[in-house]
Amino acid sequence: MTKRSVLIAVILPVLSIAGDLSTKTPTFAKDIAPILQEKCQACHRAGSMAPMSLVTYEETRPWVKDIKQRVVTRNMPPWHLDKTVGIQHFQNDISLSDEQISLIARWVDAGAPLGDPKDMSTPKQWPKDDGWQLSKQFGPPDLVLKSEPYTMPAHGQDVWFKPLTQIPLTEPRWVRAVEMRPSTPAGRRITHHALAYLQQEEPGANNNGAPGNATQGLLMEWAVNKNYDIYRPNTGKLLLPGARIWWEEHLHAVGEEIRDHVELAVYFYPKGQEPQYRTTLTLFSASPGNNLDIPPNTITQTEGYYTLKEPARLENFQPHMHLRGKSMLMEALLPDGTKRTLSYVDHFNFNWMINYIYADDDAPVLPKGTVIHVVASHDNTANNKNNPDPNQWVGWGDRTVDEMAHAWVNVTYISQEDYQDYVAKHRTR
Ligand code: HEC
Repeated sequence: MTKRSVLIAVILPVLSIAGDLSTKTPTFAKDIAPILQEKCQACHRAGSMAPMSLVTYEETRPWVKDIKQRVVTRNMPPWHLDKTVGIQHFQNDISLSDEQISLIARWVDAGAPLGDPKDMSTPKQWPKDDGWQLSKQFGPPDLVLKSEPYTMPAHGQDVWFKPLTQIPLTEPRWVRAVEMRPSTPAGRRITHHALAYLQQEEPGANNNGAPGNATQGLLMEWAVNKNYDIYRPNTGKLLLPGARIWWEEHLHAVGEEIRDHVELAVYFYPKGQEPQYRTTLTLFSASPGNNLDIPPNTITQTEGYYTLKEPARLENFQPHMHLRGKSMLMEALLPDGTKRTLSYVDHFNFNWMINYIYADDDAPVLPKGTVIHVVASHDNTANNKNNPDPNQWVGWGDRTVDEMAHAWVNVTYISQEDYQDYVAKHRTR
């Protein structure tokens, strides 16, 4: 026998056993519990933000039809990106693989059996959140900024609370990491998500001609699974004296009155140590000039174009729209005439302002002169479950019943030499 045929003789029986297993009915104990631990329980466990716990079989059983529906349509876990185009490696991907979705669907179709309880893996232990997670790495934070507190009543509609906090700084400082959280476990239950925008006066700011307040950009967001941001090596954000945090807290009632505030820990680079690269939050608008015209019962599309004046790395993609938001595409039109799809959120959901953060090796590095093209669509029909009234005309505005259409992107401009190094390295790969 040749070496290769020996190998085949050894592998074949193994493969056929594996084939048998995959057609067997999946069980909760063996197949489903590990998926729920890995992909759902961060939110679906007692005391966390989601409406029900998915820890034990008894807790999960009543929900199986909804679970199948939500995972097959890729609405849960919340990750609303088209998985067939663009960059697919992210730092914070919480989505299910095709295999996991198929396992869940087959399990539900087979009557959602428990299986042999002996197969159950040990329940996942969740870290007690005492203190700042980044303290282990960086020591105590240099600054802790707090929002004004809010008292959320036991019952009522969602609230978007937007207080302002001054940052006490007398000189510019470079930030290397930020961490954010509602201050108590109870606060975490009412806080759907919270944003911290950085407002500062910046002479000559390059916000690509963005409309509105050109010196305002997102500094940090808190959501379950998203507690901190450490900037890439040698990269930071610059805070200037006089800067303010403008919070936006999306709060929901949970059946008891809860009062809490959100807080942000800031970790600086040591004084005198300047990172080589500055990352700037940039607004790429798909509605230039704040023009949006969304007639009743229609689906509309708008777009915008921005030229990168220097080579740059794009760190993330965070579409921002309101209740009628449907989809957003970001693509790069390269100076050589080729087009590269970067990211496409095809089933946007206003309840989830997801920030898709590219993995280190996958963040796109683009040459000077690249045109960033952003295309957004809004669904003002009755098909859109979030639509409060498909018979209303909708235009650009701040309220959630008005619309917006832009992407928040952290742009890190790099030198021409760094760009060429990058190209050389990636050519030999
Ligand atoms: C990041 C937090 C988060 C993760 C992760 C998550 N969920 Fe959810 N889930 C929620 C929240 C919040 C809601 C209620 C609001 C909504 O429907 O969007 C919800 C709603 C649901 C519902 C509908 C409940 C109802 O009232 O009809 C189902 C079913 C569900 N999730 C299943 C899952 C499954 C299965 C997973 C893992 C594969 C998962 N979720 C992962 C936060 C999460």
